[in-house]
Amino acid sequence: MRKNIVAGNWKMNKTLQEGIVLAKELNEMLVAEKPNCDVVICTPFIHLASVASIIDASVLGLGAENCADKVSGAYTGEVSAEMVASTGAQYVILGHSERRAYYHETVEILEEKVKLALANNLQPIFCIGEVEAERDANKQNEVVAAQLASVFSLSAEDFSKVILAYEPVWAIGTGKTATPEQAQEIHAYIRSLVADKYGAEVADNTSILYGGSCKPSNAKELFANPDVDGGLIGGAALKASDFKGIIDAFKV
Ligand code: 13P
Repeated sequence: MRKNIVAGNWKMNKTLQEGIVLAKELNEMLVAEKPNCDVVICTPFIHLASVASIIDASVLGLGAENCADKVSGAYTGEVSAEMVASTGAQYVILGHSERRAYYHETVEILEEKVKLALANNLQPIFCIGEVEAERDANKQNEVVAAQLASVFSLSAEDFSKVILAYEPVWAIGTGKTATPEQAQEIHAYIRSLVADKYGAEVADNTSILYGGSCKPSNAKELFANPDVDGGLIGGAALKASDFKGIIDAFKV
């Protein structure tokens, strides 16, 4: 069966020192009280090696927020999937809407990044989601279907290592969360696309996370949906108690 996962995306927040404090605090909480789901924090590149050395990998996974679309070489300022993996990280967020919008990451560029992540044993957390105008025009299904092209060229074996995250752009950082019904509807549609491409078993085993203004107060009703397998958390991942509150949505 697929895993329930709560993943934090720190985005461009926290100095190295602040990040270490947050990771330690969260790690202590999870060691003291084992979570009922997988928990991952995705940090800026500069935090990875230090955070890897202080967290207990049996309760807390670690990921990057991006990686390069090239193997290595003269790409000043870039960080390769191999470098990310060498820090001890096991995950990488790819295709976040902020990277698509501000850094012009295309379906083709993201396909390269996904392949390099997998070649370096990193599990991609692959983000998809529509902007508000697309939702208003009822085009969300065709938008996510087109974005999935970056991962639908993978073999079934490779695809089965991918975690999907549906993040409606209009809900990110806005306080305007998708309703549980909206989330369930599109998550079920995304899972049906995976089933059409890779078959029912692969679809059933694919974790599909919801992201966008997810908080301790709304996590439980979002995660209660059969096709919502956890969350990708921005703002609320920056405070250990808030993030723990979301993790606790999986408490029975
Ligand atoms: P917020 O939780 O701050 O809305 O951000 C969601 C997100 O973009 C996670 O990747």
